[in-house]
Amino acid sequence: MNDNLKNPLKSKDNTVLAKPFLKWAGGKSQLIPELSSRLPKKITNSGKIDTYVEPFVGGGAFFFYLKSKFEIKNSYLFDINRELVVGYKTIQNNYKELILLLQEIESEYLQKDEDGRKKYYYNIREKYNKQIQNFDYSNYNNKWIERASYLIFLNRTCFNGLFRQNSKGEFNVPCGKYKNPTICDKNNLKKVNSALQNTEIIYGDFSESSKYIIKNSLVYFDPPYRPLTTTSSFTSYSKEDFGEEDQIRLANYFKELGKRGAYLILSNSDPKNEDPNDDFFDILFKDFFIERVNAKRSINCDPKKRGEIKELIIRNY
Ligand SMILES: C[S@@+](CC[C@H](N)C(=O)[O-])C[C@H]1O[C@@H](n2cnc3c(N)ncnc32)[C@H](O)[C@@H]1O
Repeated sequence: MNDNLKNPLKSKDNTVLAKPFLKWAGGKSQLIPELSSRLPKKITNSGKIDTYVEPFVGGGAFFFYLKSKFEIKNSYLFDINRELVVGYKTIQNNYKELILLLQEIESEYLQKDEDGRKKYYYNIREKYNKQIQNFDYSNYNNKWIERASYLIFLNRTCFNGLFRQNSKGEFNVPCGKYKNPTICDKNNLKKVNSALQNTEIIYGDFSESSKYIIKNSLVYFDPPYRPLTTTSSFTSYSKEDFGEEDQIRLANYFKELGKRGAYLILSNSDPKNEDPNDDFFDILFKDFFIERVNAKRSINCDPKKRGEIKELIIRNY
């Protein structure tokens, strides 16, 4: 085994690796040991990945891990959340300016008392939501830096530290009450910036990743969960919903890519956690290797359901 894989938290040069710059629903940090122990032998032996593709990148926990352990020639990261793409591209292009803005926001915010912080938070949230109407999401420009600073500020100071939007795409999480939140994590932003070298970040549906995937590409899929119960409405990462027909579309895509000789690995929440007879994914992915591993779910409105659950890991190799 590649020596680097022995300690999952240290990178090639023994520095602690870049962490996701946002707290993101469904973040996969705690699944990394399970995923990394299932990488293709060819990759673990050589320490090299020619092409890495992540069609649902979110906070990118697995991507940042891989970047610190392997030599990756090219990476392509996709997400349908435009705001997330604004964040990634800004760190890639202008992280130094972003740090300056965040430092300013941090010192202004931390000086205030509880009431002042609350006003400051809602003021930025309002600006952030108003900007949507005239924002040019198609062409990277300097306005992206300010918007990315708002995104990170809101994520660091909102209730539960998450990103949630309403159907109009507006960020609608109320303010949180963290005593001393780190708004500008300068060292990590720098590390994220270096991890994003040789990486393309693309706004779009997962299926648009098709043109980058060839023989021996490594593709990690972490789609939005299929809601565990009919009452659980927790899938709103963005204003787009990911329904059962999308899960089916994804399974068909998985089959198609498998024929190209790409290494495919997918994680999803196991519906058997709720209903032992629910074979939805077992049927959809019946031609592949399906494993169930332990995971912890922290995001559940019902604290009793926050404990251990199973996560599915599906591979074509
Ligand atoms: C479970 S999260 C990924 C979490 C990620 N693995 C992490 O560590 O943070 C799923 C992601 O898929 C994105 N998404 C939803 N529908 C999509 C689609 N049709 N195509 C691409 N991305 C989509 C969401 O915006 C969200 O960021």
